[in-house]
Amino acid sequence: MIPKKIRTAVFPVAGRGARFLPATKASPKEMLPIVDKPLIQYAVEEAIAAGAEKLVFITSSSKQSIENHFDRNPELEHALSESGQNNLLSIVKKIVPPNIACIYIRQGAPLGLGHAILCSQSVVGNEPFFVHLADDLINSEIPCLEQMRKYFELYNASLLGVEYVHDEDIHRYGIVATEVDSSGASRVTKIVEKPALKDAPSNLAVVGRYIFTPEIFKKLSLIKFSVDNELQLTDAISSLINDEPVYVLPFDGTRYDCGSKLGYLKATVQYGLEHAEIGVKFSEYLKNITKPQNK
Ligand code: G1P
Repeated sequence: MIPKKIRTAVFPVAGRGARFLPATKASPKEMLPIVDKPLIQYAVEEAIAAGAEKLVFITSSSKQSIENHFDRNPELEHALSESGQNNLLSIVKKIVPPNIACIYIRQGAPLGLGHAILCSQSVVGNEPFFVHLADDLINSEIPCLEQMRKYFELYNASLLGVEYVHDEDIHRYGIVATEVDSSGASRVTKIVEKPALKDAPSNLAVVGRYIFTPEIFKKLSLIKFSVDNELQLTDAISSLINDEPVYVLPFDGTRYDCGSKLGYLKATVQYGLEHAEIGVKFSEYLKNITKPQNK
């Protein structure tokens, strides 16, 4: 019997971030800020809000600033303390609460998302776990992984966060077909990685939130290189659905694809408008620059 408590969240962060070059030449895409917090910190906060205590980052050689971000920085803390900047000091010290363990595993070669998740097997063990892709930033009242955790507790099966996408975006996602099973939940009957529109089983796309039972590791260890010549998580899910149910959850919230420039800018505007310190002024500024000009 699989335990229902999810303690571990896996963050695949080894990707190159080519769509954001030159910004990502020397700095990981996951460290790009939305207003004043890097994307990876939003990811970590979401996982912790859903109960994760063990954070597993699948990294690569160019991602050391992620480790630094979640580590203490005594020199900075000392300087902030000396200059009486206690508010900033407390922000810096509280990035990761003390009961949370951060574990870093290097993915030696960029072999794909499936391979990245397989790298976490020895740390995750025989338990269900979250997978969070930091590019997909989700703004919601209840954090997306928390919505999924509650759903998982009802069905005790793997679960994919999904949303409908336009025809022209289908080729960028894993796309699923589903049917309602006897438990009343939507079960995946087919999943295809980045299909052409004509081959897509629906418009329902998998976004970067997953809960997996440990069975996924057996499937990941058997997959072959496929789309983009990578080991694809989608192929492991496609095999898993033959053995056990995999459900989908169309979560509540707005997703921003922060791996794309437009999505990143939209997120920046939205989080800027909601920001306690600058929201009101930013809103006034936007109203001014979007006012129809008198000619
Ligand atoms: C990955 C997955 C894809 C999923 C997407 C969500 O693709 O392979 O199935 O739909 O994340 O963002 P990537 O964006 O890494 O190419």
